[in-house]
Amino acid sequence: MNERFIVFEGGEGSGKSTVAAAVVDRLRADGLDVVHTREPGGTTAGEAVRGLLHLQLAPWAEAFAFLVARAQVVAEVIRPALERGTAVICDRYEASFLAYQGYGRGLDVDSLRTANEIATGGLRPGLTVFLDLDPAVGLARKRGEAESIRIGLETLEFHNRVRQGYLSLMAGAPPGSWVTLDAAESVGKVVEAASSAVRAALGR
Ligand code: TYD
Repeated sequence: MNERFIVFEGGEGSGKSTVAAAVVDRLRADGLDVVHTREPGGTTAGEAVRGLLHLQLAPWAEAFAFLVARAQVVAEVIRPALERGTAVICDRYEASFLAYQGYGRGLDVDSLRTANEIATGGLRPGLTVFLDLDPAVGLARKRGEAESIRIGLETLEFHNRVRQGYLSLMAGAPPGSWVTLDAAESVGKVVEAASSAVRAALGR
């Protein structure tokens, strides 16, 4: 576990990326050096993986595609930054994998954990900030937006399972390692709460 490594998680339309970007802006305005990255993506290889994710992949093929992106962003971006002493904020990480591929797709969660451990060398975030939202609301917020990855087009039932997955992960998370925020609140309020949680985790 690395306490300078912070992950933002949430379902479709939870506002996760907007909130993470606003928190990063605030930290930088305070003079803190922060690397902001995202999954799948954040590297040239990760962006290539996004291309694969347009295809109708078998569940384990999809899982391994996400692991290619994760192994690369850990090796190329996240570990080097943490080793320099820089804080890293990443949109999505292992919890997305367990919630979407495990609870959503129905793959065995313990096998996914093992595969993820191999891909990341066991790197875990010090804090996960989870933006919780009823998927019916989240999907309605996203209606009309171009969806870049097929998985975002899954059924409401799929996204309900993903949410239950996140809530199970939250229940099993070590104390202090997971903060859940109500993403139905205004963006301003969520940004405020997320900033306080992240600042506390970074000792700022
Ligand atoms: P993306 O277009 O990057 O948007 P956002 O993160 O804002 O939702 O979509 C990424 C999609 O990939 C999203 O539907 C969640 C899914 N995903 C997985 O299924 N497993 C994973 O391990 C990761 C990182 C993402």
